[in-house]
Formats: sequence, C-alpha cells, structure tokens
Amino acid sequence: MNQKSQVRAFYDQVGWQEVSEGVYQNAKYEDLRPVSREYIEKCHLRVKRHLPPEGKYLLDAGSGPIQYPAYLTYSEGYRYRVCADISIVALQEARKRIGERGLFVVADVANLPFKDEAFDGVVSLHTIHHLPRQEHPKAYGELYRTLKPGGSGVAVNGWGWARLSRWVNLPIRVRKTARKGVRTLVRILKRRQSPKKAGRAAAQAELKVAYADKYDYRWLLTHIGTEIPLEIRVWRSVNTSALRFYIHPWLGGRGVLRALFWLEERFPHFFGKHGAYPLVIFRKDA
Ligand SMILES: C[S@@+](CC[C@H](N)C(=O)[O-])C[C@H]1O[C@@H](n2cnc3c(N)ncnc32)[C@H](O)[C@@H]1O
Repeated sequence: MNQKSQVRAFYDQVGWQEVSEGVYQNAKYEDLRPVSREYIEKCHLRVKRHLPPEGKYLLDAGSGPIQYPAYLTYSEGYRYRVCADISIVALQEARKRIGERGLFVVADVANLPFKDEAFDGVVSLHTIHHLPRQEHPKAYGELYRTLKPGGSGVAVNGWGWARLSRWVNLPIRVRKTARKGVRTLVRILKRRQSPKKAGRAAAQAELKVAYADKYDYRWLLTHIGTEIPLEIRVWRSVNTSALRFYIHPWLGGRGVLRALFWLEERFPHFFGKHGAYPLVIFRKDA
C-alpha cells in the first residue's frame, strides 16, 4: 500500500470511526481531560484570528469531520465551507456537522481540483504532514494558488524537531524507551506466538497509525518560505504526551496552562518556532 492509500485506509477504517457520541477513535491523540480543555480550546481559536472573518468560500483542506466545536467557528462568517479530504468517511461525518453550509469534495491536498483564487480563506490542520515530504511544497503551493488576493490562510502541522519540545518531552521519551525495552523482553521470553497470530498483529499494526513526515522550522522556511511568504506563530507549544505527563488537577494544571497560554501570547514567534505546533500563516497581497 502506498503512503496516501495507507493514510486514507487508516482514516476510513479506524480514525474516523465514532467510539462514543461525537468522539472519534482519532481523538485518542488529543488530551480530552477537563483540566486541559480550556487551554486546548483557546489554542484552537487562535486559527480564527488569522482568517478573513467573512467571505463566500472557506477551504478546509483535510477537514476531517470538523471534530471540535471551536473548528466550527472558523466558517461562521462564510456562506460555504468547502471540506476537501481523501477520506470519504471524514466528509460524511463533516456533513453531519455543517450540513447545508458545507460543500464536500474527495481530493488530495497536493492536487486540489479548484480554480486559482477561488477561496477567501484557507485552513489546513494536521494534514500536510501525512504527505510524503517531497509533496509538501506542492501542497502549500496548492493552498496558496487557490487563495484569493487579499485573503489569508493557516496551516498547522506539528514539528518533528523543536528545541523546547525536545527538553519538555525528554522524561517522556525515557519512560517510553524503558517501557518498550520491557515489552521487547517479554516478547522474546514468550516466543511461542503462533505465525497466524503474528501475521494478524502485523496487519493491525499497519493500520494503527497513519504515516507522517515532520521537520523543523528551518526546513519549512528553506523549502516553502522561499516560494510563499510565511509567518510562523504559535498554535500550541506542548503536545498531548506532555499535557498528560505534566498537567494534573492536583498539581494546579489549569493555572499552569493559563500561565503557559499567557507566555505564548507574549512570545508567539518564539513558541511557534520552538514549541510543538506552529501556526503557519500565508497572506496573498491584494
Ligand atoms: C489528523 S486528521 C486532521 C483532521 C482535521 N483537520 C482536524 O484537525 O481535526 C488528517 C486529515 O487529513 C486527511 N488527509 C490525509 N492526507 C490527505 C491528502 N493527501 N489530501 C487530503 N486530505 C488528506 C485525512 O483523511 C484526515 O481526515
């Protein structure tokens, strides 16, 4: 299976399957605990600040099912939200959320079937990282090509390497490596697993996570920023693993996250480059 087919199969068969009312399997990659809710929602709302507040068409490239309430606010001032995704299940779920206000297109973000300058605003969250790296410039190019002059767009994709995240996540990596070591040891000791079972486990593992290719801000600026004017600000400076590891109600988690959000607001460019997730803004001159 090539990478795109694997990603599509993952979202059709696993990621966008509802596990409970309005919650998808894919939400296991998010921290849904009440202690983190306010921070996460405020980070989601950051996207809206950099989109034109109104217009006819907003493109949501890799829309998924528009899974969080804050995501719905991006298109409040638009007549249509055009959801483009390679997963048909994503679009079926998105339709349940925005119905008539949505237009739904199965499409690849690196080859968008839309004419130049069709959209007043463009958003693409956590999608481009699913493409092979050599297609990332093409995908950003497509988002920019379809944007109207005077419009703006936002892309969010986690960094593969960022200075701050590296230190914040160090204890988590140590714990993960230790756990992996223990599991490997147990498997070696129990080598009696039948070949049939092992084959089934391998097939399941292939669909457990979708392929992703990530890098740091230098790669983005060198390979895409030279073609398209980009501004890098912070979307969220800590990832889900760090939230689950450090943030707890009994450790004043909500207050810690309020302080972190305040810092991110004061130094958006620093946290954008060195934290976990940047908010990449592109504007087209009128
Ligand atoms: C991590 S989910 C993010 C969904 C949504 N943007 C969000 O933030 O909740 C990635 C989405 O991108 C879609 N996707 C992956 N590769 C794509 C591609 N080449 N073209 C269009 N959509 C793609 C997947 O089907 C999935 O719905």
